[in-house]
Amino acid sequence: MKVTFYGIGYVGLVQAAVFADRGHDVLCVDIDEAKIENLKKGIIPIYEPGLTPIVEQNYKEGRLQFTTSIEEGVKYGDFQFIAVGTPPDEDGSADLKYVLTVATNIAELMSDSKIIVNKSTVPVGTAEKVKNRINEVLNERGKKINFHVVSNPEFLKEGSAVDDCTKPDRIIVGTDSDDVANEMHELYAPFNRNHDRMVVMDIKSAELTKYAANCMLATKISFMNEMSNIAEQVGADIEAVRKGIGSDSRIGYSFIYPGCGYGGSCFPKDVQALIRATDSIGFNSEILKAVEAVNYRQKETLFNKIHKHYNGNVKGKTFALWGLSFKPNTDDMREAPSRVLMEALWEAGAQVQAFDPESMEECQRIYGHRDDLQLLGTKEATLQAADALIIVTEWQQFRAPNFEHIHSTLKEPVIFDGRNLYNPKRMQKLDFTYYSIGRVVNA
Ligand SMILES: NC(=O)c1ccc[n+]([C@@H]2O[C@H](COP(=O)([O-])OP(=O)(O)OC[C@H]3O[C@@H](n4cnc5c(N)ncnc54)[C@H](O)[C@@H]3O)[C@@H](O)[C@H]2O)c1
Repeated sequence: MKVTFYGIGYVGLVQAAVFADRGHDVLCVDIDEAKIENLKKGIIPIYEPGLTPIVEQNYKEGRLQFTTSIEEGVKYGDFQFIAVGTPPDEDGSADLKYVLTVATNIAELMSDSKIIVNKSTVPVGTAEKVKNRINEVLNERGKKINFHVVSNPEFLKEGSAVDDCTKPDRIIVGTDSDDVANEMHELYAPFNRNHDRMVVMDIKSAELTKYAANCMLATKISFMNEMSNIAEQVGADIEAVRKGIGSDSRIGYSFIYPGCGYGGSCFPKDVQALIRATDSIGFNSEILKAVEAVNYRQKETLFNKIHKHYNGNVKGKTFALWGLSFKPNTDDMREAPSRVLMEALWEAGAQVQAFDPESMEECQRIYGHRDDLQLLGTKEATLQAADALIIVTEWQQFRAPNFEHIHSTLKEPVIFDGRNLYNPKRMQKLDFTYYSIGRVVNA
C-alpha cells in the first residue's frame, strides 16, 4: 500500500521504516531540509536501537523514500500520516499549528480520495478540526473530493521504538467508517498475524486513549515518587516497598521505580495538555494537577540533597554527572531531569562535568559552549577533580562501575544517585557517602 508520512521524527521515521520493512511503499516528507538530505545519505537523525539497518535497507530497495516536497507527498500516498510535533503552547495546551499546517497543505493539493491518519498526540476534537480545515480549503478550491480523517495514536517508547512498532501491544484506530477501519486493518495486517491487535473505536475515544495511557503512566511514577518522599520521612525503604507492592498482580512491577522525576517529549507535555483541555471545559482534574506538581518537585530533589549536603554552599564545586538523556537508550533530552539539575547547579555557581552515551551532541546543541559545562568522552573522565558524582539516567553502563576508582578519583567519596542504582549498605561498606531516593541507609 502507498503511504506518505509528514514529520520524520522519533515517531514518523520509525513507523515509516517499519511499514516499508513489511513491504509497503512509504514516502517520508519533512520540512527540515538538512534532515532529509542526511537521511538520503544514510545519516539517521536520532539514536534509536535497530533503526539504522532498516532505514538503510529499505531506502536502498526503494520502499522508503525521503523528500521535502509536500506536492510529492500529497500525490503519493493513499494514506497520509500526520506525525508532526504537538509541543506545548505557552499555556501548556497542545499546539496544533504543525498538524493544521499539514492538513491545509493536503487540502490545497489533493486531487483524489485520501485517508488522513493522525498519528501525532492531539487533544480530543482535533480530528474534527482537521476535517473542518480540509473542507474549508476544498470549498475555497471549489472541489468535492472524498476523504476520511482517522485517529491512530502512537504508543512506541523511545529506546525500544522499532520493537514497539514491529510488535505493537495494540493498534488504536478511531474512525466513523467501517470501510476505513477495513483499510486500516489491511495496512496493519503485517503486524497483526499472531492475533488481532487492532482496537477500533470512535474518533474522540481514540484521541483520549493516548492521553489516558500517558497520564496513567505518569501517575504511577509520581505516585511512587510521593511514596519515596514519605519513606524518607518515616525511615522506610522504598525498594522494599516497591517489591512489596509490585508483587500484587493488580499493581505490577513496571513503572513503579522512584527517581528524580519523569521527562521526555511525551509525559510532561501530555499531562499538561490534558489539564489545560479539561480546565477549558470547566473540569478540574485534581489527579493530573497533583501528578504534575509532584513531578516538578521531584525534579528538584537531587539539587536539594546536594544543597543540603554542602550546607547551602555549592558555589565553586565541580560535579561529575552521569546521564543527560531523559531515560536510557535515547539521545532525547526534552524535559530531562538532568536539565533542571544542571541549570540549578549553574545558578548556584557550580561546574558540571557530564557524560552520556548518546546525548552529548544534543546537550551541546541545547546549551552551546559555556564555561561551567564540560562534556567529556567517558564516565571516568568526569570524575577527575570533581567534588562528587551525580547519577541522573540509569544507563546500563552506570550500573556496575569501578567503585574503587570512583572513590580514589573524587575529591570526596560522595554519590548522589537519582535512580537508586546501587545498594546503600554496600556503598556504606565501601566508605561512600551515598544519597539515593527514599531508602533507609541514606547518609
Ligand atoms: N517521541 C515519542 O516517544 C512519541 C511517542 C508517541 C507519540 N508521540 C507523538 O508523536 C508526535 C511526533 O513526535 P516526535 O517525537 O516524533 O516529534 P519530533 O519533534 O521528533 O519530529 C517532528 C518532525 O515534524 C517535522 N515537521 C514539522 N512541521 C512539518 C510539516 N509541516 N511538514 C512536514 N514535517 C514537519 C519536524 O521538522 C520534525 O522533524 C507528537 O505529537 C508526539 O507527542 C511521540
